[in-house]
Amino acid sequence: MPDPRTGIPPAYGGVEPTEQWAAEIKRLAKERNAKILAHNYQLPAIQDVADYVGDSLALSRIAAEVDADEIIFCGVHFMAETAKILSPEKRVLIPDERAGCSLADSISADELREWKAEYPDAVVVSYVNTTAEVKGLTDICCTSSNAVDVVSSIDPDREVLFLPDQFLGAHVKRETGRDNIHIWAGECHVHAGINGAELTEQSDSHPDADLFIHPECGCATSALYLAGEGVVPEDKVQILSTGGMIEAARATQSTQVLVATEVGMLHQLRKAAPEVDFQAVNENAACPYMKMNTPAALLRCLTEGKDEVHVAPDIAERARLSVQRMISIGNPGSGE
Ligand code: 13P
Ligand code: SF4
Repeated sequence: MPDPRTGIPPAYGGVEPTEQWAAEIKRLAKERNAKILAHNYQLPAIQDVADYVGDSLALSRIAAEVDADEIIFCGVHFMAETAKILSPEKRVLIPDERAGCSLADSISADELREWKAEYPDAVVVSYVNTTAEVKGLTDICCTSSNAVDVVSSIDPDREVLFLPDQFLGAHVKRETGRDNIHIWAGECHVHAGINGAELTEQSDSHPDADLFIHPECGCATSALYLAGEGVVPEDKVQILSTGGMIEAARATQSTQVLVATEVGMLHQLRKAAPEVDFQAVNENAACPYMKMNTPAALLRCLTEGKDEVHVAPDIAERARLSVQRMISIGNPGSGE
């Protein structure tokens, strides 16, 4: 059972992330001609051994272009599926295929078919946190770093179905000023749990801190409310994707930043700006799925070539167009 506070499995899955472990991971990856991609929410040891670390948009772009026979995707299952959709000729492995996503589970392909039938002329915009089958029913995918740009690129007279995250949808609606956007009522249980009351309490006790807020958070609306009411200066509140947070960390003039997102993010932020004190708004906000990619699981993955990610070719073909549109819109994002 994972630790209920951190979501981290006991003893890193039975293998300590020592220097020898890291050297063995790198040796095995080289032997397989594999590149390791890790999301910003992975355990610090997994981030440190990866060839590339980034947000979901940056990692999708890397997956589409990386020169390797295999991609080892240390993230959650929909991210590895997206890599497979973009690079069907490569083998894509995930250290633990049980690494799902509560947000991706909040809409099924059948539910989307029914919703589309109600609005047959609408453009369907799906967050990348969706299954390959849902992507196959989508016009354009987006991530948190380009959702506003994606919706802005759509003819203002066309209705938009935005799914599945209600908080990101509310952010997009606010930023684009569109009133013809319909939003699915899904949420990520980790981000929805970072609420406005916690944010208010933390910003009261750290009055000089900047606030970096992921748009999936339940507190995003509260953050903008606090700024609107003058409780927190407006220029101190930023709604950012995980990649955007790293760029903002390098640019901040503050000595302290309150971070509202999954706690794995703190590792890259502290590396990007070691002189800044980064504090989690909710230190229990750990994604148990992301943390399934333990050092033991990564070692097994490279040793046994498991778990391989498959996407049925017809579904992949339908999904590819919407994902390719996504990676062509918005900032290049951050990966290293
Ligand atoms: P990013 O798109 O910011 O990487 O976020 C992905 C995610 O799963 C957030 O929970
Ligand atoms: Fe999914 Fe939430 Fe975990 Fe991100 S943090 S992978 S949205 S469950």
